[in-house]
Amino acid sequence: MSEFQNNLSFAEKMDLEDPLQTFRSSFLIPQNKGVDRTYFLGNSLGLQPKKTKAAIEKILHQWQEEGVESFFKGEDPWLDLHEKLQQGMAPIAGAKPVEISIMNQLSVNLHLMLVSFYQPAGKRKKILMEGKAFPSDQYAIRSYLEHLHLDPDEIIIELAAADETEVIPDAHIVQAIQDHGEELALVFLGGVNYYSGQLFDMAGITRAAHAVGAKVGFDLAHAIGNVSLQLHDWEVDFACWCSYKYLNGGPGAVAGVFVHERHLDDQGMKRLSGWWGYRKDERFLMKNRFSAAPDASAWQLSTPSVLNYACLGSSLELFAAAGWTRILEKQAKLVQWTHFLLQDSLAPQVQCITPSSRGCQLSLLFNEKGKEVYDQLFEKGFMVDWREPNVIRLAPVPLYNSYTEAYQFFKALGEILKALHLQ
Ligand SMILES: Cc1ncc(COP(=O)(O)O)c(C=O)c1O
Repeated sequence: MSEFQNNLSFAEKMDLEDPLQTFRSSFLIPQNKGVDRTYFLGNSLGLQPKKTKAAIEKILHQWQEEGVESFFKGEDPWLDLHEKLQQGMAPIAGAKPVEISIMNQLSVNLHLMLVSFYQPAGKRKKILMEGKAFPSDQYAIRSYLEHLHLDPDEIIIELAAADETEVIPDAHIVQAIQDHGEELALVFLGGVNYYSGQLFDMAGITRAAHAVGAKVGFDLAHAIGNVSLQLHDWEVDFACWCSYKYLNGGPGAVAGVFVHERHLDDQGMKRLSGWWGYRKDERFLMKNRFSAAPDASAWQLSTPSVLNYACLGSSLELFAAAGWTRILEKQAKLVQWTHFLLQDSLAPQVQCITPSSRGCQLSLLFNEKGKEVYDQLFEKGFMVDWREPNVIRLAPVPLYNSYTEAYQFFKALGEILKALHLQ
């Protein structure tokens, strides 16, 4: 980290040397009095690619020109769009295209995955999850257990953090898995915790869970498009994610799931089914008994939103053009840079709760005046997010943020902290 210098010209030099610098101009940046805002909210709603509008218009045009025939006709028949998205997502998820299905929304998909991967039997009934899991995961899992006439308070084991940072060391997770051993049916964690920004050791957790005979799933809302994933090689059973954060798929974007290849031809697999999960070559024969597609698209239920496909597709084209390896390289450098700047500007009343194992996100915990700091940052053109009761989260991302923006942010933060007598 010593190679960094905390000054503007050093930040600008890094931007000049950045092989991804031109990608910023592929996005629409929110404006503040005619000037680009600094948008550090890739962890919340990624920015709109400029190409997205044209991609939507293309679908509208096909609909206008060909009506329902657009599913089958033209250079980009709608029936083939799912395969394109599977291909685009595969390197980002570290998966084979056949292990991916692009469908629905995250919470919906979690329910669908629970049907398939939570199979309580005998003593093996427990689910291990984070105490500070994203609330929707807790609602989904608790309500699913109630639906099975099981008591969520008896089934769910919540991993508690030792303190207000909400960080849970990986070793504690592995220990909990070993402690509960043969009672565990499922381990379900966020890949990156939404609050602390902690990146979990998904490979180690998966190994530990499989060693005691449990299934493993991850909520990758904050991990996909952010950190390196090797879902196939890690042998994760399933994962689900939303696409509106680091994937820039737009508000309410179509989400995705991963199902490991070894489960794809499991004839005993329980699944809620619909006609869009039927094998594609015979879907329109309209047979009245289900025959699953041979890949993860078997979990699809309904006719997809082609407009939503277009939004996600336009962003995945940018990921492909930039190259996932180069994106990860810049992500790693940005993380080191923000960590370096942070160390220079923090005050005693402000604590960075994000551990060194992380993606783009940093979470700053304020003892006091956190909301005032947030408001002043917004006034100065910085868009970060405020989490009750006292956390500011920020996530500079490789595709559209610069090293100079990070420098300017920490400079402004330092000035605000001084003015509020927090430094
Ligand atoms: C970690 C995490 N899980 C689940 C969700 C819920 O996603 P959705 O509203 O797409 O179902 C979110 C939404 O932000 C999230 O951040």
